[in-house]
Amino acid sequence: MAADNFENLLEELTNVGGPSGFEEPVRRIVERELEPVVDTREIDGLGSAISILTNESAKYRVLLTAHMDELGLLVKRITPEGFLKFQPIGGWLPQAIIGQRWIVKTHKAEIAGVTGIKTVHVMSAKERAEIFDVEGMFIDVGATSDEDARNRLGVRPGDPVYPDSKFKALEGGARLIGKAWDDRVGVAVLIQVMKNLAEVKPPITVVGAATVQEEIGLRGAQTSGYLAEADIAINLESGVAGDYPSISLDEAQEQIGAGPSIFFHDSSMIPNTRFRDFVVDLAERENIPIQFNVLSGYGQDGSAIQRTRGGAPVVNIGVPTRYLHSHQGLVARSDIDECVRLVTKIVTSLADNVVENLRSFD
Ligand code: CO
Repeated sequence: MAADNFENLLEELTNVGGPSGFEEPVRRIVERELEPVVDTREIDGLGSAISILTNESAKYRVLLTAHMDELGLLVKRITPEGFLKFQPIGGWLPQAIIGQRWIVKTHKAEIAGVTGIKTVHVMSAKERAEIFDVEGMFIDVGATSDEDARNRLGVRPGDPVYPDSKFKALEGGARLIGKAWDDRVGVAVLIQVMKNLAEVKPPITVVGAATVQEEIGLRGAQTSGYLAEADIAINLESGVAGDYPSISLDEAQEQIGAGPSIFFHDSSMIPNTRFRDFVVDLAERENIPIQFNVLSGYGQDGSAIQRTRGGAPVVNIGVPTRYLHSHQGLVARSDIDECVRLVTKIVTSLADNVVENLRSFD
């Protein structure tokens, strides 16, 4: 299968670098895609991109959120020899940081580097069995000194760093490898759903927020959630696949290729019961495959939205993803397409009386 427009968008979204606090390249794509189709747009004070499809005769507003940021590093200092010490941004496993290629975004250019690892040839037996600690790690950008790194390469403390990892379509496009599917896959779904909705005029005002700084504490969801004044909301995330060696179904229940998932529990949120059941029933009625996930860890923007202002019914819908928070994630294209179909269908079903019922505790 040749790459279609949506695959091209997925490729572009996962390739650009945007660690928490440095989401601008992602925001530019979101704005370029949505500017022609929505009625109004604004940026919140932290940088979240908010796009609105207004229905003047509707009483309620639904908020769709997906976060633009990804895990990264931040340059802390340059050693006299020209190596970069860093602060991790987001929930990295130390083993996933070491021995990788990175892009350092300086004020001059994007430069390449590697997180070097002490060679096994000189390690003691004890050292070989140890897990490396982040404090000892560094990025080698090929600089010969502190001065060389600063002046020739333009490196400054505070420069963001992101994984050097390019998109790759497997099996003719059925499986897609890339960094940052968390949550660029959600951003892609958000963009496509907004485009679909612009064509059908849904029975509710739709606010789409591509949020910033989720990975360091759901910060953009707090600010954009406040501005959105949502009566009901759907968060779009990368789900957690539990379908590969080394992970068990007791840890995560989703499988890739079996449809989008709805979360019943994670460490940040329990979804609204009526809205949860509404989504499951609707998926069944529409013959859209849906999976369930109950996680003990994990956190997501929906929990910040749920607690904004007076509170609102929220569900978290995921695209099952393998190998989250690393240089290489893997997703199934069919799950992304089914997720778009499901979320489009949910929003077009949110007439005033439906929202009223979902918001009620009677
Ligand atoms: Co995420």
